[in-house]
Amino acid sequence: MNTKHDRKPGGKRGWATQWTRAGLIALGAAVLSSCGQGQFIFLGDQAASYNREIWNLSLWAIGLSIIIFVGVSGMLFYTVQKFREDRNTAAPQQFHGNNKLEAWLIGIPIILVLGLSVLSVRSLARLNPVSQETLGIEALGAQFWWNFSYPASTVQGGSVVTNGNEMVMPAGQKVAITTTSRDVIHGFWAPNLGGQRASIPTVKKVWELDTQRPGVYQGNCSQLCGASHANMRFKVIALPPERFAAYNEAARAYVAPTPAPGSAEERGYNLFMQGKADTGAVACASCHRVQGTPAGGVSGPDLSFFGTRRTLGAGMWEAMTPRHWEETEVAQSAKTEKQYSPAQALHEWIKNSPRVKPGSIMPSYDGSTYFVDGKPIKGGLLTDDEIDDVAAYLRSLRLPEEADYWRGIPVHGTNTTAGGSQ
Ligand code: CUA
Repeated sequence: MNTKHDRKPGGKRGWATQWTRAGLIALGAAVLSSCGQGQFIFLGDQAASYNREIWNLSLWAIGLSIIIFVGVSGMLFYTVQKFREDRNTAAPQQFHGNNKLEAWLIGIPIILVLGLSVLSVRSLARLNPVSQETLGIEALGAQFWWNFSYPASTVQGGSVVTNGNEMVMPAGQKVAITTTSRDVIHGFWAPNLGGQRASIPTVKKVWELDTQRPGVYQGNCSQLCGASHANMRFKVIALPPERFAAYNEAARAYVAPTPAPGSAEERGYNLFMQGKADTGAVACASCHRVQGTPAGGVSGPDLSFFGTRRTLGAGMWEAMTPRHWEETEVAQSAKTEKQYSPAQALHEWIKNSPRVKPGSIMPSYDGSTYFVDGKPIKGGLLTDDEIDDVAAYLRSLRLPEEADYWRGIPVHGTNTTAGGSQ
């Protein structure tokens, strides 16, 4: 029996299925392409109240747009059908001055726009309160890295807990982020948590973020800021509250370990603190701080917990497990297109940071010229062994095991968890 519902295989239905499938593949590719090294970036993440608010507002806007689209197209088709030209008359029927219709056509858009405005203003008000009891974190953007400090977490000696490129926060609690910048305008953006704030020199913007779900979230600088804008990434590590408390206490009490006499770490410590005058190698301590040591430099990232971090070069390299530090296939330098393990990358980094990260103003230690504010400076010299000593010292700068904020925390959107301490 052949009814009008019968369809031939490969007919209209097959065509539609193919297009649906092609659409899904394209959508999947778009979603996958947003994943950087296993990180799933998703604007509609419902674990963050910022994103939930925006999502709900979007649903209103999308819903009203669909109603408008259907309404306008419906009226258009109705009108075209009903007032089709009659071939027997010379001119179509004329009419104008329908006041009632005009009142509707003006009134409905006004109501829609006003409605959306009220919803938007309500969302703005909800997204921008800063309550007194929220934990404060200052996010300072600099070319090309992030400095995260905790003004309430004081450290003996008058400083505060500070970390580079890895922002640790408690899950299930609002944190008040103060964004600002040291040099040019940067943009603080962790898409899964929502919000996006320009970090502007001399301006301090305070706003709130939270997430219900512990995890590791990807962050990026979202404002074109120079040669390594794309290399200005960061991680947000949201911990269960008791884990965060343990981190915070350990970070406040942290004193960098004293290297054993005669060890590589001790040789690295001496180079870090004093440099090497006879070859012109600048002391790392002049630009970097290490809590509990004389190193108090602030022009480069704080290195107090360097050995606990899993990222290097503001997220250029990621080592999500300790094993990754030694593997060769996970890391890549965009500039040289060489494959590096993070351990090799650290070596290359110390040797000549501007070569692996364009625009980096860190001195080179292989004698090559580097640039600060466009001025060429001749780099000092460290041997490969000396560079490895400095690397060994850096990797010994670890928070105690219970404060390792990466340990067992799920990397959002993947089935992996970050590994334990090295
Ligand atoms: Cu900082 Cu782009």
